[in-house]
Amino acid sequence: MVPKTHFHIVLFLLSSLYITSGSNRQANYDNWISWNVKNYQKKGTLAIKWKGQDLNLRKAESNKVRITVRQDGAGDFKTIREALNSIPPYNTRRVTMLIAPGVYREKLMIPRTMPFITLLGDARDPPTITGNDTASTTGRTFQSATVAVDASYFIAINIKFENSAPHEIGSMGGQGVALRISGTKAAFYNCTFYGTQDTLYDHKGLHYFNNCFIQGSVDFIFGSGRSLYENCKLNSITKKVASITAQKRTNSSLESGFSFKNSVVTGSGQVYLGRAWGDYSRVVFSFTYMDNIVISKGWSDWGDQKRDIGVYYGEYKCSGPGANLTGRVPWARMLSDEEAKPFVGINFIEGDTWLIRP
Ligand SMILES: *[C@@H]1O[C@H](CO)[C@@H](O)[C@H](O)[C@H]1NC(C)=O
Ligand SMILES: *[C@@H]1O[C@H](CO)[C@@H](O)[C@H](O)[C@H]1NC(C)=O
Ligand SMILES: *[C@@H]1O[C@H](CO)[C@@H](O)[C@H](O)[C@H]1NC(C)=O
Ligand SMILES: *[C@@H]1O[C@H](CO)[C@@H](O)[C@H](O)[C@H]1NC(C)=O
Repeated sequence: MVPKTHFHIVLFLLSSLYITSGSNRQANYDNWISWNVKNYQKKGTLAIKWKGQDLNLRKAESNKVRITVRQDGAGDFKTIREALNSIPPYNTRRVTMLIAPGVYREKLMIPRTMPFITLLGDARDPPTITGNDTASTTGRTFQSATVAVDASYFIAINIKFENSAPHEIGSMGGQGVALRISGTKAAFYNCTFYGTQDTLYDHKGLHYFNNCFIQGSVDFIFGSGRSLYENCKLNSITKKVASITAQKRTNSSLESGFSFKNSVVTGSGQVYLGRAWGDYSRVVFSFTYMDNIVISKGWSDWGDQKRDIGVYYGEYKCSGPGANLTGRVPWARMLSDEEAKPFVGINFIEGDTWLIRP
């Protein structure tokens, strides 16, 4: 991937120049931002390079098929699993799976060899895909997902993803993922993610979430994805102190991060906007309404002070009682217009080359 390599080379040079001390790391970050802003301004040139990559996507979109799933037997398949099993490996066409209302108790894994799948529900009565596996029943948080997507170019519209495992505060192994997205170039419209601890595993790749409702207690949006969340509602159901996000970024040359725009943070308990999973965790909230559940410090370094200099936690034009910046940790960033720019558009996820609107 040509632009990525370019990106890595630039960051590698920056890293090797500035990695030596804390204040130099700060410089590294400021450089990253100015580089990212420049890159944003040049995105026209970048996009042309990326377009070539998505010939397969264009081909898939011009050759669509639609299948139906209905539990009453009146569709092509009764279960989502049967419908998935009907798709040949190394699929090259967009397959839209129209899923009738209902509760589907299914554990689904969409493998890498199955790109271009769309799960489409009815906006008035979205189907629910539910399960209750946890890290302790399956051995790993990763395996607990009700729906796991390793494929690229995945789309879900009007679907409820659920992990109904009960969670006791402080219990070990209670992580229960509703959806894990590990494929790149995935989009979610009007989707709901219900769970408690670790609801949405935004594992890796470029992802877009629009008009989604995401509920959980602890770290309920977590992982190493590079994702833009627009018009989403983040609903905390914690009874104590928890963090909404745990974005994982373990070194400064990784491109991952979560950007929340025009969203709402609400619910119960006392929450941090994010806690640092890795020394370089990166999260930005912009134009977001924050209820008074947000702890005035805003952000947590997960008890590791050396992370304070490496993390990138930004806020831009947020509102509501939780957005009061008075008590924020000193390493939280109030972004300038320039600094916010790379995070507040689909350019953050290179969306202009792959994102399909429903
Ligand atoms: C998980 O769901 C199954 C099937 O409905 C049920 O038998 C089991 O008791 C549930 N487990 C928990 C921990 O809720
Ligand atoms: C998404 O939900 C909105 C209502 O919130 C509805 O107007 C819209 O049609 C839905 N989008 C799709 C693609 O079904
Ligand atoms: C950062 O992580 C990437 C991906 O794991 C790895 O290839 C790279 O060598 C790492 N760089 C440093 C400086 O640790
Ligand atoms: C923010 O919080 C501080 C300290 O609690 C308070 O004095 C100030 O009035 C608040 N600002 C706004 C705009 O609510």
